[in-house]
Amino acid sequence: MNLKLTFFTDDVTKLSCGLLGLLCFEDQLTDSAQFKSLDGKLDGLVTRIATEEQFKGKKGTTLTLHTHGRVGAQRLVLVGGGQRKDFQPADLRGYAAKLVKAAAGVQSTDVAAAFPSLDGGAATTAERAAQFLAEGALLGSYKFDKYLTGEKKKPFTVAEFKIVVAEAESGKLTALEHGVQRGQRVAEGVALARDLVNEPAGEMTPTKMAEVATKVAKDHGLEIKVLGPKECQKLGMGMYLAVSQGSEEEPRFIHLSYRPKGKAPAKKKIALIGKGVTFDSGGLSLKPSNAMEDMKIDMSGAAAVISAMDAIATLGSEYEVHSVTACCENLVSGRAYKLGDVLKSMDGTTVEINNTDAEGRLTLGDAITYARTKIQPDEMFDFATLTGACMVALGPYTAGVMSDHEGLVRNWLNVADRTGEDMWRLPLTSRLREQLKSPIADMRNTGDRFGGAITAGLFLKTFAKDTPWVHVDIAGPASTSSNRPSQPKGGTGFAVSTIVEYAAKA
Ligand code: BES
Ligand code: MN
Ligand code: ZN
Repeated sequence: MNLKLTFFTDDVTKLSCGLLGLLCFEDQLTDSAQFKSLDGKLDGLVTRIATEEQFKGKKGTTLTLHTHGRVGAQRLVLVGGGQRKDFQPADLRGYAAKLVKAAAGVQSTDVAAAFPSLDGGAATTAERAAQFLAEGALLGSYKFDKYLTGEKKKPFTVAEFKIVVAEAESGKLTALEHGVQRGQRVAEGVALARDLVNEPAGEMTPTKMAEVATKVAKDHGLEIKVLGPKECQKLGMGMYLAVSQGSEEEPRFIHLSYRPKGKAPAKKKIALIGKGVTFDSGGLSLKPSNAMEDMKIDMSGAAAVISAMDAIATLGSEYEVHSVTACCENLVSGRAYKLGDVLKSMDGTTVEINNTDAEGRLTLGDAITYARTKIQPDEMFDFATLTGACMVALGPYTAGVMSDHEGLVRNWLNVADRTGEDMWRLPLTSRLREQLKSPIADMRNTGDRFGGAITAGLFLKTFAKDTPWVHVDIAGPASTSSNRPSQPKGGTGFAVSTIVEYAAKA
């Protein structure tokens, strides 16, 4: 992600670069002043080729043409934006990422992006646009190539991304610069989360997670507490420790705190809780090999909240923000927890185990109790690759959001909407709680197959009690098996940008 982001404010035809992108909407294909001046310099060739190649500006389509030195840019890439009214500012991420990928494809060292004035050109909108362009450009150049060798480890050629500022926007340079800076911080956070998720489980152990969090704390002067098994035992975290007990790797319970600088008291206290199962074999309810293959991603929630803390600390916040991650492995051994075991949680609730693969809710239950009682936040959020059922319900790109706090969940979904992360609410249907009844304990850890995402949410609700709380099941979007411009295969860093948008200063 070593990409320099710069602005270009001069005549677009004079811009020298390997590749210049132009975003074109279906319903106003040739309308922009930038399009017109480039087309003019090229004697109408752009319009002609677009017609001949039947480029209509449909979303996902691109058209590349060489300029043969008639304008500064060597190549023009028209990128279809679909209908103007359907285009969201966050879509600029994909646009920028696509350009960076295209530039890398032709071994170009620099790439430029023209962008249309969105929404009447208010300064805030321009700032947003710049932020999303920066995020897209940086994340479009993200690669996890640490373990590649020789030929396979190709250097990334693109070194500079120029944002072409239209004349109408030139008065907003300060806002644009501010947007780019914020975009940079968010992208760094997302990239850190991706790195942590992409790292093999043999490397990214609970202990390693604690080391990463310690570095984040040191970098920003955050307070950090790392608890080992003995301390967790003292706090009575019976559910969390049971999950961990089948592993040779020690659990690490990590609590990071950010407090606003200056004298003004924090406006509110937020706790961010992340599922940190660094490998989920399923335990004695062992997963089949193909389902286990990707289970190094089961700490994506923890990766998201720790990385978001890093970005929040850099950008500053008016809130006191905490992250809580109960990291451990879920393995099989002679010491592993068993089906039928009854565990005692930190809040005293007893839980009968009927499936050791429903381990996330056990670790989170104790983490939620810790957050609720030790931090006493005004609001708490948890992020967890919790259930396959959530993916069955919503598909691989959308997170399931559950909460019985109307105000808080609306706020959260609005913020997610702005950042372009797909989140959708599922109900916490109370009738399904019956499925969690146990004859010998206060409850059991899993219900039936149908409604699995919701019963997991209801299980967590037991521990959140009356503290305003939102549960975000990120089992689907935390990782992707297909390459997208701003998201290569692997960890996506999902939720980082919404958390930062929610908690960090504007
Ligand atoms: N970590 C998994 C959920 C998961 C599945 C995340 C696929 C990402 C991709 C979780 O611990 C799990 O195993 N859940 C079980 C719950 C079941 C036993 C009630 C599941 O979804 O099958
Ligand atoms: Mn599991
Ligand atoms: Zn799991």
